[in-house]
Amino acid sequence: MNRTTVSVLLPPGSASAALVQDVRRGLGSPPLTLPPKWLYDDEGSRLFDEITRLPGYYPTEAEREVLLGRADEIARLSGASTLVELGSGTSDKTHALLHAFRATGQLRRFVPVDVSEATLRQAAEQIATTYDVAVEAVVGDFTLHLGHLPRDDRKLVAFLGGTIGNLYVEERRAFLGALSDSLEPGDVLLLGTDLVKHADRLISAYDDPWGVTDRFVRNGLRVLNRELGADFDVGGFTYVPFWDPHLQRMDLRLRAETPMHVSVPGADLELHLASGEEIRMEISTKFTLEGIREELEAVGLIPVESWADARDDFAVTLARKGT
Ligand code: SAH
Ligand code: TRP
Repeated sequence: MNRTTVSVLLPPGSASAALVQDVRRGLGSPPLTLPPKWLYDDEGSRLFDEITRLPGYYPTEAEREVLLGRADEIARLSGASTLVELGSGTSDKTHALLHAFRATGQLRRFVPVDVSEATLRQAAEQIATTYDVAVEAVVGDFTLHLGHLPRDDRKLVAFLGGTIGNLYVEERRAFLGALSDSLEPGDVLLLGTDLVKHADRLISAYDDPWGVTDRFVRNGLRVLNRELGADFDVGGFTYVPFWDPHLQRMDLRLRAETPMHVSVPGADLELHLASGEEIRMEISTKFTLEGIREELEAVGLIPVESWADARDDFAVTLARKGT
């Protein structure tokens, strides 16, 4: 019996219209930026998966440690019968939760949501064959499509991997507000956040000697070349990751090594980059437990419990929607 359905909320064409808008807004004037979701085409998702297995990239294993240790408690506290996962990717760590929900016997549905369709389909298929749940995958954008989440069941919404840190502060506030609006009183959010720590360890997490992270970030320019007919000289940039202590975030950029003229015909844009000019491809904000609590409370989500791994690298917070 196949218990997997896939709803596509990003019909072909709509993605490229959104990309055009993002590119015009982000690359039209300095500081040059791009929203992170465009890093995750099939190749980007594959490279990200490789990043999660790099020795210096601690967040994945730290979060897995917390989930493995606390999954039973999380399943019990949530009382959920629907598990939603935003930015689910391979849903690799989510197996800890799905496994724990076997004991509660209440979970009937798993709803993974991701923009990366091939990765999502593969993960959905694997989960449907392993657990006794209906899998209703959604190819969608969690900044646009939260209104489509099911409302008929007690939900646990998992948002793992520190992906919330990839949103800019104003996007994050809007996202958390919309997320809270999509929940019914009693529904629960499970939020994974990377924690502020020494810059050296952060830099080793976002810059590896094998060049995997560099390829992942650079792949963003390949996406623009392919989708919008741009002519970025992908090899003419240097990957520059740094820690911004004021904004408490990793700032991940590509620097043009020579003056460049880039055409982006699909977005009707001509770009002139000076030598040394940088494009910010992604940020990865780091949090404190107090900061997380405040941001959740501000949107009517009541923190119930936060757990961290043994090194205090990464936190997983459970919060309940208030009345
Ligand atoms: N949750 C996984 C994957 C994290 S990587 C983990 O913890 O390892 C971030 C994931 O979010 C990718 O799979 C990417 O495709 C997805 N993503 C990024 N922006 C998105 C958006 N706006 N809407 C939906 N998915 C998004
Ligand atoms: N959500 C991941 C993070 O912020 C995304 C990520 C991991 C990433 N490694 C990266 C983004 C390297 C850009 C560059 O940790």
